[in-house]
Amino acid sequence: MEASVSAMSGLTTHPQYPNLVILDHPLVADKLGRVRDAATPNKEFRELCAELATLLAWPATADLEVTDTQVATPLAWANAKSITRVPLLVPILRAGLGLVPGFHALMPQATVAHVGIYRDPDTLEAVPYYVNLPEQLSGWRAFVLDPMLATGASAIASITLLLERGADISDLRYISLIAAPEGLRALFGEHPKLRAYTCAVDRHLNDHGYIVPGLGDAGDRLYGAGAGRVPETAVRAIRRRERKQ
Ligand code: URA
Repeated sequence: MEASVSAMSGLTTHPQYPNLVILDHPLVADKLGRVRDAATPNKEFRELCAELATLLAWPATADLEVTDTQVATPLAWANAKSITRVPLLVPILRAGLGLVPGFHALMPQATVAHVGIYRDPDTLEAVPYYVNLPEQLSGWRAFVLDPMLATGASAIASITLLLERGADISDLRYISLIAAPEGLRALFGEHPKLRAYTCAVDRHLNDHGYIVPGLGDAGDRLYGAGAGRVPETAVRAIRRRERKQ
């Protein structure tokens, strides 16, 4: 049987969220199955995250602005194009780091600006504890990277941070491997014009905020349990500052 054109593109949109693109492609499905598998070792997990990120980067960069140029081939001048603006990658610490190599594979010139956000256990609010963004983001095309769109709290907080620094919502792309319906509802409820890309929308969040079936703790599977969590000292410093205000 012949595949339809839309099946051949490997992309679908979500019936509820027209700005959400879901990768529906045999290569993505195969790799996603392997990242979900609890038996996949960390090394392979990291490689698969990078490969999936590259596959997500393909549609997410399809409308990057290009500038016409010319290059000399060994035979003659040829018309060529180059990416006009240096793209910005914004990995949300720490699991977002796992998607950076896949984007860099296609856009080695991309600048990386890290954002760390933790969930206050008392208020459940998303609190930025590390923000290394350019002061002025007007005119930047930015890709916010986090493999798991769970509650949506850190996604909303990171997009809000970018908008506060002058980014235009039409220039932002939110990239995840797996999204929960709860996170999508929250994120698009707050930022309906945001454009997002993911490989799968899963069933639901469990009581601990993990996506089911998901893949477990993406940070732990990338970097090992206990490594690189929000430093306790940073949390204590934020609390001290808040008490003084
Ligand atoms: N973060 C993770 O690493 N996994 C989840 O399932 C949800 C949030």
